[in-house]
Amino acid sequence: MITRRTLMAGLTAATTLAMLPRWAYAAAPAEGVDPALVTFIKGLPKTEYHVHLEGTLEAEMKFALAKRNGLNLPFADVAAMKASYQYHDLPSFLAIYYDGMKVLLREQDFYDLAYAYLAKAASQNVIYTEMFFDPQEHLKRGVAMEAVIMGITRARRDAEAKLGIRSQLILCFVRDLTAESAMAALDAALPFKQHLVGVGLDSDEAGHPPEKFAAHFAKARANGLHVTAHCDVDQVDTLKNIRTALVDLKVDRIDHGGNIVQSPELVAIAKQRGMYFTVCPTFSGTLRRGIAQPVDVVRSMLDAGLKVTISSDDPAYMASEYINEVLLRAVSRSKLTRADLAGIARNGFEAAWLPAADKTALLARLEAYLASVA
Ligand code: ADE
Ligand code: ZN
Repeated sequence: MITRRTLMAGLTAATTLAMLPRWAYAAAPAEGVDPALVTFIKGLPKTEYHVHLEGTLEAEMKFALAKRNGLNLPFADVAAMKASYQYHDLPSFLAIYYDGMKVLLREQDFYDLAYAYLAKAASQNVIYTEMFFDPQEHLKRGVAMEAVIMGITRARRDAEAKLGIRSQLILCFVRDLTAESAMAALDAALPFKQHLVGVGLDSDEAGHPPEKFAAHFAKARANGLHVTAHCDVDQVDTLKNIRTALVDLKVDRIDHGGNIVQSPELVAIAKQRGMYFTVCPTFSGTLRRGIAQPVDVVRSMLDAGLKVTISSDDPAYMASEYINEVLLRAVSRSKLTRADLAGIARNGFEAAWLPAADKTALLARLEAYLASVA
């Protein structure tokens, strides 16, 4: 079994691991961070664009939903379930993540999942979020698209009314399932398109390049939806896939995308296109593949002049560290200053898939906060 000790030993031996489970960290998120910066981060009005709703399914809720749905889980308790969240790369993470979401069966389950995330995000001053979901996995279990989308939509409405957090929804294609399955999901979702803002591409990139979804993206665009794509770090053909997404498919945003710093040409194209990146340092914070010295993704992207936003990805599987904890860790590992954090927050509001007037209003809330703490 992998323990924290063996993992850390492996790390010091210059392992090629691309990512680590959160429990690999020894310190609490705020440890060593200037208390004034901790306060600044907590109060900062924030956005979040790279959060998989199914990745916010906390172990406690899994047990509650399993009970409600008459399912047995192969874990004695919450602690045993959390202890099983041990992964060392994207496929080993995805196996745990897909297994975990099997408790989601009814409209109310999707409502509870989305409301819990939105409440947590609102408690950390996220005022606007665009959230991913993976409907193909739910359709496979016989759940209707309507139950998935309407459960989440009802939660979005309630959270906005009760907690003041605004949100939109991005349907992700599970890239390692067939292109036909993704198209069937899109077709099933289009009758509910007024509840969606975009489509994305997630899951295992190996052997499933973005061009596999060219027709899906075109249909989504024709239906008024935005398009984004995961380019997970250190994947085989990562620069080729970033180029395809950026140049050929002209996606509106890239999720992760850290390897772009290894190509000055792609960096120049991204800057020229004004591309925003949704970076999740918990999962994809370091480049390691084929290089002697690991590269810090957030720092190198900022230094390259790219438009970085920061998100929590799958917090339930990353020691329940949500956006404030993620930002606190980013301060330490990527040497973020208050000015960096303000810039990242500003990028977040500017990247919103919202009408210009709404973006301006949200940005004004950020600027008022920054002025109040100057
Ligand atoms: N599904 C959930 N989280 C993911 C990630 N970070 N990359 C690819 N697929 C995912
Ligand atoms: Zn992701």
